[in-house]
Amino acid sequence: MRNFNGLEARGAALVTGASRGLGFALAGKLKERGFELILHGRDAEALSAAAEKLGAAYYAADLSAEGAAKALYERIKADGFTLSVLVNNAGLGASGEAWTVSEERDGELIAVNVCAATELSKLFLSDACGRGYGALLNVCSVGAFQPGPYTASYYASKAYLHSYTLAVREEAKKYGVTVCSLCPGPLDTEFFGRAGAKKPRGAMSAEKAAGYAVKKFSAGGKTIVPGFLNRLARVVPAPVRAAFVASVKRPG
Ligand SMILES: NC(=O)c1ccc[n+]([C@@H]2O[C@H](COP(=O)([O-])OP(=O)(O)OC[C@H]3O[C@@H](n4cnc5c(N)ncnc54)[C@H](OP(=O)(O)O)[C@@H]3O)[C@@H](O)[C@H]2O)c1
Repeated sequence: MRNFNGLEARGAALVTGASRGLGFALAGKLKERGFELILHGRDAEALSAAAEKLGAAYYAADLSAEGAAKALYERIKADGFTLSVLVNNAGLGASGEAWTVSEERDGELIAVNVCAATELSKLFLSDACGRGYGALLNVCSVGAFQPGPYTASYYASKAYLHSYTLAVREEAKKYGVTVCSLCPGPLDTEFFGRAGAKKPRGAMSAEKAAGYAVKKFSAGGKTIVPGFLNRLARVVPAPVRAAFVASVKRPG
């Protein structure tokens, strides 16, 4: 599958973490491409408002809870939807010296960014590869490309998801299923505030990142990095990038 043309008449797109931020923007771009939309979020009020704006179905679930990802996927299938696209976007960050981050925060981060994204990828790929069509977009980060001092568990979670995504991309190819990794730089969303960090200056709008992402996703892009400077930064050696991250994120 090289583009969305063959998919539009054949199913729905599920975007997790679509109650706000990048997920909401990605959902809007998929709607423009003609997909029937299903939004997921945790905050039921924000989610229903987002779904109303986009004319989408919606399902609330806390993906950090044991078994929640599987239950969400099964509920959507039981309601008669066939998913041709899955965007694993739900995610959260944590900041500060690694040993000061609470066990609860790290647990939630790993449960959502790593475990739920893996579980949903597997359930989706099992169906899509069996059917012979589908496209999966996992939202990682430029933080996947090097260690992240003062945001260690978050960068590590995205490095895991990026590596996993590129591996299953190879496996799914022969079944006609496309798998892509989206690696944005800093975005102008509520993410940093919720992670107890300061939003960097020059953060890209979610709308702009989503427009670029969906264009590249529809063309089957492998590692999708919105923003020219973010793409250029990849030529800098990883240890230098990690030292830069430390200097920017070091508290005080
Ligand atoms: N912001 C950045 O600079 C940046 C950069 C690179 C990558 N990313 C990635 O982009 C994705 C979206 O981030 P964003 O910037 O749009 O952040 P955001 O505005 O904080 O939105 C995060 C979304 O994830 C959902 N979510 C968080 N914890 C959840 C949980 N336990 N169960 C279910 N849903 C949960 C939130 O749902 P509720 O609002 O309903 O709680 C919300 O819809 C994340 O994967 C993030 O890691 C962000």
